Amino acid sequence: MNKQTEDCLDLESLGKILASRENIESADLSPILQEIQLSYGYLPKEILLELNRRTGIPSSQIYGVATFYEQFHLEPHGKHTVRCCRGTACHVKGGRGIIQAVQRVLGIDEGETTDDMQFTFETVACLGTCFLAPVIMIDNDYYGNMTSGKVKGLLERYK
Ligand code: FES
Repeated sequence: MNKQTEDCLDLESLGKILASRENIESADLSPILQEIQLSYGYLPKEILLELNRRTGIPSSQIYGVATFYEQFHLEPHGKHTVRCCRGTACHVKGGRGIIQAVQRVLGIDEGETTDDMQFTFETVACLGTCFLAPVIMIDNDYYGNMTSGKVKGLLERYK
């Protein structure tokens, strides 16, 4: 759990994000949520409730946007996102071994975040780059023709 979730979340950052805008409407939600996530590292429930109170935008709409886009995280999320492909093209070329190597190196399972908040590990059905199979993605970077032996060195580059 990161420091901000241990302490009471400070509302000052939210105040600054909203102060630069006037007449906030539902259409403004996406960039506002991006700024909130940038500031807090994720979209804390308390901050979304406060956003509802200060703007009058219904919580259902706020959560609708927050859950629609993959980029938004409702739970604390690591600085880096590691995505492994579990699709067929990657699977037949050793994708399972790469997933296991990531789990071993980071010491976490799918959907978890390391204690130091550096990495969150996810698997996806296909990364859309099957010609590079097996593929791993870290943040916005793709690494193709991966082997389990390359995983440790690759992750160390992001520490
Ligand atoms: S199956 Fe792995 S990128 Fe498509």
